[in-house]
Order: sequence, then structure tokens, then C-alpha cells
Amino acid sequence: MTSKNTAANDATKPRILIFDTTMRDGEQSPGASMTLNEKLELATLLESMGVDIIEAGFPAASEGDFAAVSAIAAQSKSAVICGLSRSTPNDIDRCGEAVRKAARPRIHTFISTSPVHMKHKLKMGPNAVLEAVGRSVSQARNLVDDVEWSAEDATRTEFDFLCKCIDTAIASGATTINVPDTVGYSHPDEYGALIRRLIENIPNSDKVIWSAHCHNDLGLAVANSLAGMANGVRQIECTINGLGERAGNAALEEIVMAMKVRGDTLPYETHIDTSYLARASAMVSRITGFPVQYNKAIVGKNAFAHESGIHQDGMLKNSETYEIMKPEDVGVAKTSLVMGKLSGRNAFRDKLESMGYFIEGDALNDAFKRFKDLADRKKHVFDDDIIALVDEQLAAE
Ligand code: KIV
Ligand code: ZN
Repeated sequence: MTSKNTAANDATKPRILIFDTTMRDGEQSPGASMTLNEKLELATLLESMGVDIIEAGFPAASEGDFAAVSAIAAQSKSAVICGLSRSTPNDIDRCGEAVRKAARPRIHTFISTSPVHMKHKLKMGPNAVLEAVGRSVSQARNLVDDVEWSAEDATRTEFDFLCKCIDTAIASGATTINVPDTVGYSHPDEYGALIRRLIENIPNSDKVIWSAHCHNDLGLAVANSLAGMANGVRQIECTINGLGERAGNAALEEIVMAMKVRGDTLPYETHIDTSYLARASAMVSRITGFPVQYNKAIVGKNAFAHESGIHQDGMLKNSETYEIMKPEDVGVAKTSLVMGKLSGRNAFRDKLESMGYFIEGDALNDAFKRFKDLADRKKHVFDDDIIALVDEQLAAE
């Protein structure tokens, strides 16, 4: 165990930068918009949690986004504050202006590079796209020292053209190169191999930080991000609760806990204090009104709940039987043994004791039988139901 609840906190391991885009890509979830005050509240929490880069919005998209990015930049202390911008001169200027007050400002500029996007969305040929890459990155670099460039739809881009675009971005001053799986099309082996091949083929690949930005259309965003990491990515773009366009982005809490729990096979460190994860999840859910699914990894209501008798019995003997991490590591107070029709006698007795009832032998057997009958009839057995059941039995004895 580490003293601070970070994902590894071991300086000998490569550091993974956590780039949170809940307020930019996350806000692109239909219905997930956030007010200025909500964004400021979330940014404060993300910074306290140890997020390295906060993508605070898309300043040219609206006056509201501009105001939010500027306000987050002005209040920031340690995190890099980043704004997104297309490759147009106006977007880049607005973005530079919005992040100006940050202690550590970043402009993140992007353009599509895949044939389908260039033809149908941009209506631009490869040469014009290449020219836009050089021009936009140079312009951004004249405004700030920290410039991220993304090849939108990189995973469906022709490899040699992708290399040319990345070469140009690096030559023009980009400091981070992001390889988005924009439509969540890749699978882990493929995404990992793409990152490796890019790093091996780009002459100045060691001069920049490589970043993964994976969408979850096939449910592979986290797996793809981890494959990227194993092949040289050192920045992961992710969101709280996996919020984001369509099926969302890689979930920050899953990425970070995968490293913390499986340090044996994922030997990397982050500066995230994982005890903030449950709070961050609840805050994003409250702000956006998006419920967290009960069985969501790490932060779902059931992530540390056990109902079957066999599992509850194991948990009462040793929590490692059915839990691979401690609830307090992610900021959840404790494991819960949920009382239902599958619960066993040991868990029932433990529950009674936690409520101040110490009964044994026939009295316990009777109470347990009556509890099972009730649980067969009633979907949710609450503490009050159990109290009523035992009090009734004790009164009759
Ligand atoms: O998914 C994507 O490609 C993006 C880029 C703008 C980074 O969100
Ligand atoms: Zn995205």
C-alpha cells in the first residue's frame, strides 16, 4: 500500500499523464451540458485529485465555453489547462486567449486525416490538410509553449499519410501527439500495433509525448488505451464515468485502477489520488443528470456489493476472496453485503449483529427461515424489514 492513494507512486515506473476531457468530450454527450459554476466545481476536484491536464472546453464553440475555459484557467494552480480548437486561425486565437491566464496553458488543435472525413466532412484533399496541420500548429506554438495536435479519426487513416501529418505537426512545434480512435473502431492488438509502428517510423518520435484518445463504440476504449500504453503512449485521455460522444470515452476511474490493481502487468505510475474517484463520479452524475449504471466498474453502486450466500460467506472470512481492491481505495466507505433471497445464514447473523441482535441456535434458525420467506416475496429487504421480523419473533418467545 502506498501512503497517498495514488495509482502506483513509484518513481522508477514510467509516468502516465492523465488528461481529463469530461468538460469537453464528456460535455459532447447529448444532454450533458454543464454550467460555468458546475465546471469550476468539477475543475477544482479534478485538480485536487491529481489530474495532470484538464481539457476545459472548446472556446470557439460558444461564448459560454470561452467563459468557462477562461475561468478555469484563471483559478488553476498545478494542472495544465487545455482548450480544444479546430485548425482555423480564429479558433486557435480564441483558444489561446481563453487559456492565457492558466499557470500552464495548452492549445489542443486537431484536423481529420482519414479519407472518409477528408472527402465528406472537410471536403479537402490531403495536401490542403497537410498544409493546415503545419499552419495551425505553428500559429498555436506562437501563442503557447505547450501544443497538442490530434489526427481526428487516426485509426481509419492511411498509415503513410498519418506519418506525414505527424511529422509536420512535430516539425511545426507540437509537443504532444494524440492518436484518436475517434469512432471506437480499433481493437487492442491493432491500436497497440499502430502506436508502436508510428513511434518506430516517425524520426522525432522521442521529442513528443504520445497520447491515446479512445472512444467506446465497441466497449473497447479502456482496453485500447491500455494497449496504447504498453506500446509507448504516456498520456491517456479519459473522462469521469466514461462520459463522451455516443458510447463515450475511456473511463478515467477504470484506467487508473487498472494500473493500481495490476501493477504487475501494467508497471506505470500516475499522480491520481484514487480515494477521490467515488466523489468525482457522484459529482459528474449529479451535474449532468446521467445516472451511473449499477454494475459500472469501480464506481457503480454494486461494485462492492455482494448478495449470493457463497460470496457473502467468503467475504466474511476474507475480503480477498471476492474483492480485488479495497472500497476505501476508491473512496467508497465499505463493502456491503446485501440481504436478499440468495444471502446465507452467516451473512444474516453478521447483519443482525451489526444491528445489535445477538441470537443463536433455534432462534437464529427461525429468524433466518422467516427472512428467506420474506426475501422470496419481496424484491428489496430493508434493514427495517429485518428489525420488524426479529422484534416480532422475540416478542412472541
Ligand atoms: O474523438 C476525437 O477524435 C476527438 C478529437 C477532437 C481529439 O475528440
Ligand atoms: Zn473524442
